[in-house]
Amino acid sequence: MCGIVGYIGVREATPVLLKGLKKLEYRGYDSAGIAVLGGRGLEVCKTKGALKNLEEKVAALLPRADGNPQEARFSGTMGIGHTRWATHGEPSDINSHPHTDISGKIAVVHNGIIENHGKIKEWLSGRGVTFRSETDTEVIAHLINYYYSGDILAAVREALKRLEGSYALGIICENDRDHLIAVRKESPLVIGRGQGENLIASDVPALLEYTREVYYLDDREIAFLSRDSVEFYNEEGERIHKTLSHIDWDAAAAEKGGYEHFMLKEINEQPKALTDTLRPRVIPAGNDGHSLRSVNLAEIGFDSSWAKAGRVVICACGTAWHASMVGKYAFEHFARIPADAEIASEYRYRNPIFDPHDIFIIISQSGETADTLAALRLAKKNGGRIIAITNVVGSTLAREADLVMYTWAGPEIAVASTKAFTTQLMCVYLIALQFGYLRGKLSREELDFYIAALEKIPAQAQAVLTNKETIQRFASLCFNKSKVFFIGRLFDYAVSLESALKLKEISYTHSEAFAAGELKHGPIALADESTLVTALCTQEALFDKMDSNIKEVKARKASTAVITYEDVHHFDQTAGAVFRIPRTPDCFTPMLTVIPCQLYAYYCSVLRGNDPDKPRNLAKSVTVE
Ligand code: M6R
Repeated sequence: MCGIVGYIGVREATPVLLKGLKKLEYRGYDSAGIAVLGGRGLEVCKTKGALKNLEEKVAALLPRADGNPQEARFSGTMGIGHTRWATHGEPSDINSHPHTDISGKIAVVHNGIIENHGKIKEWLSGRGVTFRSETDTEVIAHLINYYYSGDILAAVREALKRLEGSYALGIICENDRDHLIAVRKESPLVIGRGQGENLIASDVPALLEYTREVYYLDDREIAFLSRDSVEFYNEEGERIHKTLSHIDWDAAAAEKGGYEHFMLKEINEQPKALTDTLRPRVIPAGNDGHSLRSVNLAEIGFDSSWAKAGRVVICACGTAWHASMVGKYAFEHFARIPADAEIASEYRYRNPIFDPHDIFIIISQSGETADTLAALRLAKKNGGRIIAITNVVGSTLAREADLVMYTWAGPEIAVASTKAFTTQLMCVYLIALQFGYLRGKLSREELDFYIAALEKIPAQAQAVLTNKETIQRFASLCFNKSKVFFIGRLFDYAVSLESALKLKEISYTHSEAFAAGELKHGPIALADESTLVTALCTQEALFDKMDSNIKEVKARKASTAVITYEDVHHFDQTAGAVFRIPRTPDCFTPMLTVIPCQLYAYYCSVLRGNDPDKPRNLAKSVTVE
């Protein structure tokens, strides 16, 4: 996720900005830049790649000790900086932030997504504005300039009225050398209060060298920073009062936003990530002339040519393959079309049968997994039309696929994939729903019903997270079990596979997943008093079958736990422990049932003394075979 820093004070801003960006590197980024306001006016330096590229580029321009101070570049006591994690437009010098308006006097850094940037761009283009980048952010700089008539704060307020989406912003204007403006809506921003200097940053670590006194900006608040003061305004332009907070965390904890590990942070980010994945793709009721919601998947060229498809093939590795399994069930369920979930490392060496009308979907968080890319190339060679679902803009997968749907989960740093999984699910559900509608298998009303259910998922995920202490307590009782099995049927089986993978990769517990009906065909021979069996029970038509399976393993002295709906008491007498999720259609439960399983794996890992962020023998991105 992008990182923002900003400084106004008495020091040279450039080193403060570069050091601040370094402290935000953990957020993940693919390019970086700064804008400094000094004797030479507003100067911008930005570049694709690692921060050291920016440091080298800036160093080549900085004043030399023996140089003429008149020629000093990037010398000034205020500025803004940014590490970009690409969303709109691939990582490149031109797409990096800061972005400036046409006059080059207003510079903006942004974290978030401007959902209506297309409309604003069209509107500004009609007023003679030419755009240089592919970003959503550039519209903000031009919009502020459009409203600017001598008062930068007033211009920013006018521009904000037009913006839809999420944003944390840092803004400077060459005509106002005494103020830096910061704005927040749904993306984090902290204001550091110093002595004769003030700062802004996406996260506390970037401020700690200068101050431990901070203001946390709330949604729709504007901070107006000078060297000696910070004023706060609401959207209506009224002054508001905010309270200073003192930071007493150590810097390492702060980089994880106060969480002990990135994995826990990323598990907790799922409600926001799911919102970011879903919201830009839903057309609210009334917006397209209909009284019902619909889906906009223009990014993957969803048109009538899809109707010719006779099969959907979804291909991936690891967690992304588990998302493919859910996808397979979802396509069969909503679109009534044959669908296969293929393990990429197998697929590449098979002799698969291709039909040019097949829809080929490749899922990969990183977009760089070697086996997955090999499967993509094989399918492409055989004439398949490839749709990529990935989290990383500009990744090899995104570049080589014909069409791309981004998960917008933000950078995932922990090796164990969590928010990438749930957002991949959101993407496959959206495609399957829209496809079902296109094939005439879902009515307009049914599509609306399912979209409404998807819209509830982020809040429901938050509700599951609120009960995390229950899982923590449960983990403390059984983290030493030598065998843990996850069982389920249909959608619950796919989540069982994901849950067993999560547990084994970070806690090193021997865990396996079984389709519950398969137990009696062999795996039940393993059940004994050293086994914990967690049954995922959300496929209502199969509750009685699951109940029997739980009783079968109990009879072999295994401990049992169940994950089911909050209003279901079917398993209360059978299971040793019951964890509950809010109601949603049975087909959407994977986005919720996986959360307690992720938490269980996390707590077991910690209780066993492991580092869940860096499990042994594993890499975040498997770029070799
Ligand atoms: O980046 P990808 O989604 O292609 O990665 C695929 C797998 O390597 C990945 O999901 C792996 O299984 C994770 N460690 C699971 O937590």
